[in-house]
Amino acid sequence: MPNTATLDASFDDLEIIQPSYFQEHGYPHDTWRRLRAEAPVARWDRFDLPFWAITKHADITAIGKRPDLFLSAPQLVMARTRTRKFDPPPTLIEMDPPDHGPFRQIVSRRFTPRALRRIHGDIDRIARRIVEDLLNDPTPEVDFVARISAPLPIAVIAWLLGVPESDWKLLFDWTNRIIGANDPDYRDPGTSSSQSAENALREIYQYFGELAEAKQKNPSDDLISLFNQAEVNGRRLAPMEVLSYCQVILVAGNETTRNATSGGMLNLIQHPDALRRIQADPALLQPAIEEILRFNSPIIHFGRTATQDTEIRGQKIRKGEHLALFYPSANRDEEVFDRPDDFVIDRTPNRHLAFGIGEHFCAGAHVARLEMEMAFKYLIPRIEAVELVSEPRRLRSNLVGGIKELPVRFCFTSGV
Ligand code: HEM
Repeated sequence: MPNTATLDASFDDLEIIQPSYFQEHGYPHDTWRRLRAEAPVARWDRFDLPFWAITKHADITAIGKRPDLFLSAPQLVMARTRTRKFDPPPTLIEMDPPDHGPFRQIVSRRFTPRALRRIHGDIDRIARRIVEDLLNDPTPEVDFVARISAPLPIAVIAWLLGVPESDWKLLFDWTNRIIGANDPDYRDPGTSSSQSAENALREIYQYFGELAEAKQKNPSDDLISLFNQAEVNGRRLAPMEVLSYCQVILVAGNETTRNATSGGMLNLIQHPDALRRIQADPALLQPAIEEILRFNSPIIHFGRTATQDTEIRGQKIRKGEHLALFYPSANRDEEVFDRPDDFVIDRTPNRHLAFGIGEHFCAGAHVARLEMEMAFKYLIPRIEAVELVSEPRRLRSNLVGGIKELPVRFCFTSGV
């Protein structure tokens, strides 16, 4: 395995991190493949923020499991550092040990498969209603994002948090403005991307502040009430910490699941044989969801920062330098996956890293799987024919590989 950190000139025109690239071209799988083969730990200097590009499954796994050596707090996303006027406390995903573990415990107990069985029926009811709206709609051409993959996670997250249904639309808008801050379609008119994201963040804190206060007086079984009552190291969460918890659940749980679901629909349109196989054998849905997660890998990268001088594959990483973990590249690593660029719905094993790995492994992974299962469980059996009406429109972001619009034409069989 070569260990070149300095990329030769043939890499000069290649791109792996500019938000506009992802909007125009989708994922740079060819470049990631070359990096895995020629420079798996590569210094990427031509971005606003220089970083080490980490593209191999084994390296991302090892880094994810060493939160003492690779911190999340200093630079979780590769973007220009900006001064913020509104600076709420770090959210769970931006914390490092020793603070991170006790904070994570608050929510992890709620999201185990066992705990989720208790609310399975409610998630099923929410998903079924959204899918049935589409099944009963006589219009053949629809935007799949607007009809299924966006409303479903929003509804589930809002319901989990305890947000009244009349406000679900607000949540949708806020998360779009935060994740899509680089995208003019979502940015507040006449503002910079950071200003637009900051405005949305302020509105989220204002809204959840009022809701959390109301739930102090009338607690129920929802997450806001859980955060209100939670203790870490023998003390109650401060009001702003309650709100930062609401923020991370809302933002982390929404766009990701949306794009996994949209990506999955696109995969099934492009692989009609896979669709027919799941229709004939519904037990294939679960491994198919894992393959959808591997194949689409909605989080493009998360960052880490070295706490001391260290070495990976012979490359010297200095204390304070940043690393970007490219999860979609790990998910096509030919050392781990046979035929990595093929969509194989019964792939076993499927050790994908779509949910990350180690200390920050996605706290909502089981919720996401359940949402995707519900969406496809009701939809797939009814699809007689489906085709793309036009190319998907993609999000301008280097964090979430987003599909903004997926125009499709469905023909459904009649229900039983
Ligand atoms: C397909 C959908 C999803 C994908 C692909 C996804 C992906 C990820 C990834 C890659 C991480 C790791 C972050 C890191 O490496 O620093 C993460 C963390 C996290 N995710 Fe998800 N996620 C999804 C759905 C959800 C949902 C539905 C929720 C909430 C209900 C959620 C909540 C979180 C939280 C709270 C963290 C931070 C965990 C920690 O720092 O300990 N995610 N997610």
